[in-house]
Amino acid sequence: MALSPIAALAAVDAVRQHFAQRLKAGKESADVALELDNILTLLAGVDFAKPDKKHLQASGHPVIRQLQQVGASAENDNVLAAFLPHLGDLPWRYSYEPRPDAPDIGERMAWAELVGPIAPFKSKKVCIGLTAIGAGLLYPAHNHPAVETYLVLSGTARWTANGITQAHPPGTLILHPSNITHAMEATNEPLLAAYAWTGEVETLSTYQE
Ligand SMILES: [Fe+2]
Repeated sequence: MALSPIAALAAVDAVRQHFAQRLKAGKESADVALELDNILTLLAGVDFAKPDKKHLQASGHPVIRQLQQVGASAENDNVLAAFLPHLGDLPWRYSYEPRPDAPDIGERMAWAELVGPIAPFKSKKVCIGLTAIGAGLLYPAHNHPAVETYLVLSGTARWTANGITQAHPPGTLILHPSNITHAMEATNEPLLAAYAWTGEVETLSTYQE
């Protein structure tokens, strides 16, 4: 199946509203608040009227199987609720070079982008998407020039950035500044997280080890 433009827009809007609420609540650190404001400003400039239907086609990626245990009871209510019925219909992809030490990694993790240079809603300034990492999988250390904000939707993974590893439960916002090396390791449940990229969004992420 393909994702409907209405469902895609509703999912992006759920992320936008969540970010706006977090900003309004005033509990985030100054750098997170600044980036949330930047994301919201850039999203206001995206044309949502004419989605590129080619990028609304479901990929049939094997990561979808990994997401069957993501439950509606997970804590991140509106955002997760907007995506949950459509996880099987998203344009999941994985585009790193193969890794001999993890030959099946491209089948156990993927991301699906709804706003961005290669997405139904086109932007060269901001991306909005989902990252899925299968249970027990390490997403190895990587970096990219884009500034990245993650919102954990489901799964408490171990997140590493700047050599510090922390468990982040659903609801956590995580900011990765430009070019910081970071990694995530899912535990006994898959990690599902919404992300936003700003800045140099057309440069792909690369593995650092
Ligand atoms: Fe990243």
